[in-house]
Parts: sequence; structure tokens; C-alpha cells
Amino acid sequence: MPTFTIDNKKITVDKGTSILKAGLDNGIKIPHFCYHEKLSIDGCCRMCLVEVEKMPKLTIACNTPVADDMVVHTHSPKVMKARAGVMEFLLINHPLDCPICDQAGECRLQEYCFEYGIPHSRFREEKRKRRKRFSIGEHIVFDEERCILCRRCVRFCREITKTGEIAVFNRGDRSWIDIYSGKGLNNKYSLCTTDICPIGALTSKDFRFKVRVWFLKEVESICPECSNGCNIKICVRDNKIYRYLPRQNDKVNDTWICDEGRLSYKKILSDDRITQPLIRSGDKQIPVKWDEALAVIAKGFKGKDGNIDGSKVGGIGSPHSTNEECFLFQRFMREVIGTNNIDFTVIKGDKDNILIKEEKAPNARGARDMRLFPCNGGRGISDMIKGIATGDIKILYIMGRDLMGLEEKGRILDSFGKLDLLVVQDTHVSDLSRKGDIVLPSATFAEKDGTFTNINGIVQCITKGVEPPGDSLPDWEIISRLSKAMGYTMEYNSPEEIMAEISKEIPGYKL
Ligand code: SF4
Ligand code: SF4
Ligand code: FES
Repeated sequence: MPTFTIDNKKITVDKGTSILKAGLDNGIKIPHFCYHEKLSIDGCCRMCLVEVEKMPKLTIACNTPVADDMVVHTHSPKVMKARAGVMEFLLINHPLDCPICDQAGECRLQEYCFEYGIPHSRFREEKRKRRKRFSIGEHIVFDEERCILCRRCVRFCREITKTGEIAVFNRGDRSWIDIYSGKGLNNKYSLCTTDICPIGALTSKDFRFKVRVWFLKEVESICPECSNGCNIKICVRDNKIYRYLPRQNDKVNDTWICDEGRLSYKKILSDDRITQPLIRSGDKQIPVKWDEALAVIAKGFKGKDGNIDGSKVGGIGSPHSTNEECFLFQRFMREVIGTNNIDFTVIKGDKDNILIKEEKAPNARGARDMRLFPCNGGRGISDMIKGIATGDIKILYIMGRDLMGLEEKGRILDSFGKLDLLVVQDTHVSDLSRKGDIVLPSATFAEKDGTFTNINGIVQCITKGVEPPGDSLPDWEIISRLSKAMGYTMEYNSPEEIMAEISKEIPGYKL
């Protein structure tokens, strides 16, 4: 393990570590465009030049491994002069687009220009003209004039997605980035190129010009679209979500997320959110207050004689709910209702060998860990549906609409006509919620705190980014209130309090 000195700081690193990585990992800023931790080294931008004592010339930090006793200067006068030169070359042909560029506020060229550039241009010739803002894929707009040819996008499509849609064409100062004819930049991770493009050459059609980035607050959370549990940042302004960005977690998603997960924020904003408790009155569902809805459910669970017959009740939870909520749901069903008729289902879909997993929910593993399944003779979903037909199941409490992903969805919905009481707790209006005798409005993952367990058993936190709409509440709070309405104390003030209980009962969930 070589030990070297960088800006008067002695550092020991693994053999083969580059000066750039060693510096960045130790809080030393070395500007760079083409280097990206998750891609191969290209060494084309020259922005990372540093001075190494006893070396005749400046060297690029991204492609120079640290050696024992090396002495490196990252901001010496020689380095600063060379960096200003690199910036001057990059800006020669760069358009004066900053005021109208959507990358402003998160553009490396702009930032380095302030830090390392010279305050005026000596270039008197005409700037090179290139194609402006044209579509190169379903989600991406390309501005060829802004491109600094760092080739990050090219390496991403070759090395990560292995789809290779984009390449450098021609040579020298006549080279440009383009897609192969007839092939759009349409892989399942295409929007990651807009994250790694260090300037405003590749931008997201979805996000362009919606909001200036410096107005956005970033909240750390987990993508809810599949069981990989990719780490994301929810970007919010005035209680509205504008985008998700990937958050680095080398054990889960490196620095990537898929386009489907990234664009799924739109579901939260959709117009078909359930925002108030509803009670059926004939063909209609009438909005009511929480207390009224919970009192009607409590009465319904108890039956005419005031006693609960747990064998006639079923509970279907959701892998979209947090661990805390799944735990509370099964506990409510087992301890308050007295039934083991508990189950959940998870919608399945495409998978790949990068990130995308087959189970299209963030917490299927957590739901299993929290015992959201039948045991001791309890009924699973298909058995509950059979029980409805024979009159053995009279009441269903369903959290989430995952059942609607099953092939036999139509048959299941028809069978609900035989129930005495159907309680549906969900975020959005669906065929299922329309069937509910009582509908309880719940919060999405972005509107609450808690934890999800990903496919590999990694327990990760989600954080509330926005307020839930209308009267909707997190599932855990609804279950707590419902149990209280039934005379059973399950009062929790936060998901942390529930996790404290979980850690006593479920192995591997230590606080
Ligand atoms: S489009 Fe962006 S990422 Fe691709 S080469 Fe140009 S500047 Fe680099
Ligand atoms: S791979 Fe799965 S968890 Fe990751 S961003 Fe895509 S849908 Fe979300
Ligand atoms: S970051 Fe080193 S040459 Fe580009």
C-alpha cells in the first residue's frame, strides 16, 4: 500500500489507486470532466492535470497511479495556469448559453469556469456551429454545440448498458457525438447519461425547464418500483416532486437508476389520488371524516353480536408498504382480529442483469420478514377468495392494490360482491377501490418515513419528501388509529417506535 503526499497531506492508499481517486476520497478537490468512478479511464479532457515532484511535466491525475513517496500538488501556480489553458480551449467553441441552459446550477463547466477560468475570452474568430437541441431518444435532448467530448455517455452505453447506441464520429476538432443511424438512445437506463454528462449537452425531456435546480430541496429515499431498492434523491419544491435522481450506494445501485423508476414520480402527482375516507352509499362512495370511517369499520369487524369471528376475516397487505406498516398490519390482524388469514402478493415483470428486478415492489422481502403470510392454518389469497365464494370469508381488509396485478383480477373483483364488508386502504383510485365499502386514503412512499428491505436483505430508510394530499395518512398511522377505534391500544407516534418493536421480534432487524 503506497503512502504519498498530496497538498501536504500524507495518505496511504491501495496499490494501483489513481491520484485523482486518492485525492477525491480524501476530500481533496481535483477538477475533472471525463473521469467517472464507475466508468473506464479515458483521460481525454486534461482538466485533472496535477504537478508531481520529480516528473518533468504535469500529469493527468485520473490515469496516474499513486507511488510510494510521491509528492503531488493540485493547486500550484503551474497547475492553475495549465487548468486555465484547458478551460480556455474548452470554451473556445462553447456557446454562450448559460442564461438559457437548463444545466445551469449543476454544470461543471460553469463551476470550473468561475474557479479556474480566465475572466475574458481572447478568441476573436467565429465559434464552431453545431446542431442545437434535438431529440436523440425517447427521453433525451442533445445539444451538440455544448458537448465537450468527454465521452462519458459513450462509455456508459458501452460498459454499463452494453447497448452502444452513441459514439464519437470523425476526428480531432471535427469530431462530434452522435447516435448510430436508426438507433435512438433508448436503453432502459438512458437518463443516466443526463446525470453523468457534466454539462448541458444531454438533458432530460421530462425535466427540462420545469424548475431551476437551486430551488429544489433533495430528500434521500428509495425507489419504489422494484425490489432492487435503488437509492434516490427526491427533488422537491413547494411540496411538489420534480424529479428523482440516483444516489450512490455501491452495494445496491452504484450511481444508476433505470428510467422507469426515475420517471415513476409522476404517479405521485397524478389526479386519481384518494384524498378522503369514503363510505359506500348505494352506488356512490361518500366522503366522510376519519373518525366516522374508522367507527364503521370497527363496528363491521365486530359483527351483530359485538364479537369478532376472526375465521371469517381476511387481511391482504402490500409489499409497497414499509416494514413498520407490514409488521403492524399482521399484528393488527393476528392480535386485534384474531386471524391468521393474512397474505400479500407481488406483481412480477421484466428483469435484467444490471439493476431491474422481477418483483415490482420495494419491500417484498420485508413483507415476508414481517410475517405477512398465513401460518397456523390461516388462509392465503387464493384460499380467501375460495372462502368468499363458500361464505366462509365475510370481511376483507386490503392494503394496497397489488391484487390488481393478478391474472384472475376480474374473477377476484366479482367475488367481492359476496362480502359483508370490504375495506380498501390505498393511495390511488382503482377497480379495487371502486369496489370498497369503505376506502381509506393512504400516503405514498414519498410522503412518509420508514424502511424497505431490498431483495438482498438490505434494510434502507425512506424519508418524507412531501406532505400527503388531503386527509391521507401513512398506513402505519391508519392501522394505529383503527386499532384504537376497536379498543385495542397500538399507539405509535413514529415508524422508529414500531421499528423498536420489530427489532425485539424479527431477527436481523436490530436497531
Ligand atoms: S454529450 Fe455530455 S457526456 Fe457525452 S461526450 Fe458530450 S459532454 Fe460528454
Ligand atoms: S431498478 Fe428497480 S429499484 Fe432501481 S430504479 Fe429501476 S425500478 Fe427502481
Ligand atoms: S478527468 Fe483526467 S483527463 Fe479528464
